[in-house]
Formats: sequence, structure tokens, C-alpha cells
Amino acid sequence: MKARQVNKRKNVAILFSGGDSPGMNAFARAFVRLGCNCYDSNILGVKDGYLGLVRSCQKLSCGALTSEDFESLLIDRRGQFGISCLDQDVVWLDGESVSGLARRGGIFLGCARCPEFFKSVFRREVVNLLAKLRIDSLVTCGGEGTLQGAQQLARESQLQVLGVPATIDNDTPGTETAIGVDTALNTIVEAVSRFSHTADSHHRIMVLEIMGRNSGYLAQTSALAAGAEIVVTPERGNLDEAKMRGIAERVERLMLKGRRHAIILVAEGVQVSPVADAGPAKALSDYLAAHFSHLRGPLNRIESRHSVLGHLQRGGAPSVADCILANQFAVSAWEEISANHQKGGILALTHGRMRLQPFGRSRRDLIRDRRSQYLLQKHVSKRWRGDSPHDIGQSERGGIQVAFAKR
Ligand code: F6P
Repeated sequence: MKARQVNKRKNVAILFSGGDSPGMNAFARAFVRLGCNCYDSNILGVKDGYLGLVRSCQKLSCGALTSEDFESLLIDRRGQFGISCLDQDVVWLDGESVSGLARRGGIFLGCARCPEFFKSVFRREVVNLLAKLRIDSLVTCGGEGTLQGAQQLARESQLQVLGVPATIDNDTPGTETAIGVDTALNTIVEAVSRFSHTADSHHRIMVLEIMGRNSGYLAQTSALAAGAEIVVTPERGNLDEAKMRGIAERVERLMLKGRRHAIILVAEGVQVSPVADAGPAKALSDYLAAHFSHLRGPLNRIESRHSVLGHLQRGGAPSVADCILANQFAVSAWEEISANHQKGGILALTHGRMRLQPFGRSRRDLIRDRRSQYLLQKHVSKRWRGDSPHDIGQSERGGIQVAFAKR
């Protein structure tokens, strides 16, 4: 890394928006320390993502805070002190204010979803506020929604806006991975292993619902790593009667061949058709329970349970891989800021290299990239040839080779 002295002392704001992800703190720590120690810059931390900026604008516009008071608060309450003051939404950070964060989960500045930010009237006020604070660059850290907000802000202002992918969902087009994905996968794989112990004792089917919003990446990848029998993702269509029957029959065949339990991972974004009140894991688990209760013989005693893994997938200390990735993103962010080209975009990891991608890459590329992984999981999960009604075809062999070649 070449630490470059920038011509003019830069003012850079950072915020974390959307759902938090493990490793955000590691990114903040590296970003602030590099900014202070290598780039001689001022770093403004924004609390609770875009919401912190919107809140500041609202306080200023309704008169709850005068511009003079706002500016003197920023001078008087810096670092740790400003962070601990609940009535302060933006704070100048120093190297000390990020100490102890290297392996702490969550994000110390707070993280929030901010639907107001999708309205142009609020964004206009935010642009004016950042101009008043003489901010040159804004670094936004989060998932797809956060980066869409960043793209709009870049379009509507003179600011250099950089997006750093940080989301367990791994649904950011353009980058192979994001901060928090590896930790969430490790958490899920560990949980699946615990569920499989009890499932085996009771000869049960366990249907586990995995986060990921509209993306099946987490479910698909953890199924591959944990050795789950079946995975259901939104990319493969709705969960309708025919699909549930197919799954039930496959589990039945496995059990007839002597399997004592089955683990099924269902991505939370899977739509049940016709629409049901229950989530997809419960809908499938209920279907399987009913299917087995109608069978004759020992299979009639097979029970099914469902569980929603929920927010535990977002917590915990980041894995080593996520800590390193967070530091790499911080280095890359400073390289773009100090390059003085003012170009914005999304920092993305592709083929082992960090690059600046333009905003707005299509989700279709993301889905195409992931198909080979789906095929790999499907065939690796087959214990016996003929487990699944689909036999391996020529095109699928090609797909699997692609999955290996990409590594
Ligand atoms: O985007 C991260 C994520 O954890 C998704 O996987 C999930 O759908 C969503 O956030 C949950 O959001 P919230 O924390 O607002 O309930």
C-alpha cells in the first residue's frame, strides 16, 4: 500500500446503513486509523447511517438546533465524547475513538434503514448539509439498498461517493463477496451441525430458514459447506405444491435407503405459492410432516421441525477472513480518495483484486455467476445416484467445471 500525501487535507464522512454485518467495525477502525495516520485527513462519523444525516437536517430545519450550535457541538464533542452523546448525530473521529473494534461484532456508530432517504427532498437537504461541513468524499458501507442510496447521492451532488459492500446477504452486484458474508456462513454452518445432532437422535427432518432477503446465496453456500441434503432458494422459483411433493419424495427415498435424518435449508426470500401466512420453512416443514404421517410402516413416525435462524446470523465477532477483507476495503477506499479523481462507485473484489466498479451493475450478472455453485451443491449433496429425479446432464457437467475453474 502506498500511503500518499494528499494535496489538501480532506474531509471524509463515513456511514453504515441497512442491516449490520460482522466486520463493519474492523472496516471503521482501519479506515479511521489509515485516514489519520497515513492520509492526514479529517473523518466524520455519521451515526445510524443515512438516518443520522436526515435527523441532523430535520433538527436544523425545524430550529431545534441553530447552525452555530451545530458547529460548536462538532468542535467541542469529538471522538469518544461525541460518540457517547445521544443528541449528536455526526462526530469527528480520531484514532482513539475506534480502539477495541478490531474483532467486535455490530457497528459502534449504529446502523439503520432509512426509507426517507429514497425521497429526493431529503437527499437535497443532506447534500446541502455535507457541503456546509465541507465534506469532499462520503464512504457508505452496507448492502444493496445502501449502495442504491449512494448511487443516487453521487448522481445528485458533486461529492465523491464510494460504496463499500458490507452485508451478510452477498447480494451486491459487481463484487464476489462483502464484509460479513464469511462470518455469517461460519455461523450458519455451525448451527446446522448442532441441528443435525438432534435431528439424528430423533430421526427427524429439520427445515431451517436462512436469511438473505431476495438472495439464496447464504442458504446455497452454507448447504454446500455443511452438507445439507436439500436447499431451496428464490432463484429456483416459488415453493409450490409440486416442488414440496418432489422434496418430500426425495427425503422419503433417502429414508428408505437408511438415512436417519435430513437437513433442508430454505432461504427466507422463497415465495410460498399459493401465498401462505407462514414463512417458507414452516410451510415446507408442515407439508413434510403431513406427507410422512400419511405413509405406512416405519416412515410414518418421521417428524419434521422447522427453525428460523434469524438475527443470530448477523451477530458475533467477525471471522479472520472478514477482518482481513475489511482492512483491504479500507486501503482501497483511501487509494480512491487520495487519487484526487473524484470518481465514485462501488469497491468490489473480483478475481482477488479490489477495483472501483461504476454504480448500477445489473442483478442478472449476479444470478448468472451463481448458477455453477447451485449445480455443485446439487450433485455433491447426492448420496446415491438416483437420489434426485434429475440425472447429471452434459450442460451441468460444464457448469461444475466452471465452478472449479473460477476458484
Ligand atoms: O440485509 C441483511 C438482512 O439480515 C437480511 O438477510 C434480512 O432479510 C434483513 O436484513 C432483516 O432486516 P431487519 O434486521 O431490519 O429485520
